[in-house]
Amino acid sequence: MTLADTSAHTRMPWKSAGVRTIPQAFPYQGSKRALAGQILSLFPQEGSPRLVEPFAGSAAISVAALHYKLADAAYISDVNEPLMGLWKLIIAEPQHLIAEYTRMWNEQLDDPRAYFLEARDKFNAGKQPEILLYLLCRCVKAAVRYSQKTGDFNQGADHRRLGAKPSNMAERISRASVIMQGSTVATSAYQDPLVNASRDELVYMDPPYQGTSDVSDHRYLKGLQREAFSEVLQQAVDNKVSFIVSYDVVTDDEKYGSALPAELGLTHRHVVAGVSSQATLMGQKRMTTESLYISPALVQRLGGADAIDGRLGSAPAAEAALF
Ligand SMILES: C[S@@+](CC[C@H](N)C(=O)[O-])C[C@H]1O[C@@H](n2cnc3c(N)ncnc32)[C@H](O)[C@@H]1O
Repeated sequence: MTLADTSAHTRMPWKSAGVRTIPQAFPYQGSKRALAGQILSLFPQEGSPRLVEPFAGSAAISVAALHYKLADAAYISDVNEPLMGLWKLIIAEPQHLIAEYTRMWNEQLDDPRAYFLEARDKFNAGKQPEILLYLLCRCVKAAVRYSQKTGDFNQGADHRRLGAKPSNMAERISRASVIMQGSTVATSAYQDPLVNASRDELVYMDPPYQGTSDVSDHRYLKGLQREAFSEVLQQAVDNKVSFIVSYDVVTDDEKYGSALPAELGLTHRHVVAGVSSQATLMGQKRMTTESLYISPALVQRLGGADAIDGRLGSAPAAEAALF
């Protein structure tokens, strides 16, 4: 590490601290916890009065930003109502949530397979957030999956694991609860929180994998059309909203999904997201990179595109794509 790197890491501790220092309330496929160091590097150093995260999921970036005091408060929203109900409980009733998780975890021990299926049926009937927490901890890859026909949660259990131990979960929920105190949680589509964000706020977006044609993305509740998304991004650009979007996944020369339209005038950078697990399965070692798009208002706030490269320690997207 050079002297310059050392001082950057002193000024930006989130770059070197590693993900384990950032609490994770619950597991969630697609969590951006592993990329938090790089995403937080794009936050104005003076911080933001509020971070808005309209595709919140497990809100990894909000938790990380509050942990490192890069925002005074967070506004998290998502279309998944029970998921947002879970966040409300984490913030307002952590002890109740911990007690419910502990009860379900212990009750499952006699017959974990049957218990999971019963819990899933019960969740589909009543949508209780407490049960969603148990399902997320027990299901395959912590990945929510919904039936396109009925909207029911239909992901199966990972029979190799029983889910985080109650003592571990109690610590995670308690830490996340303390950090997220004062945050606002809403069930809503992303448009309003994004377009109406004020100029001193910062919006971080991690939309679901791009939808193709009219097929909705069964991995989350809804797929997202690139064109419709781009139109809303244009409104946010016009409103001078500072935002960052995580978009598409690029594995070496394989690029899934199309880039966001150049007309939006966003600054595009690739960041390394880790080793490609798909390639590893095939006996190859390849890096997975992820695109970040930064709005003109934020680029200006950060001092221009060069300042962004300095913060990320990365090359512009076109060069980085040659990895
Ligand atoms: C990739 S995940 C976000 C993961 C998140 N970054 C984290 O750290 O856990 C995308 C989220 O967007 C939500 N979502 C899908 N369509 C949406 C929409 N139209 N408006 C708001 N949220 C939406 C899904 O429910 C899902 O939780």
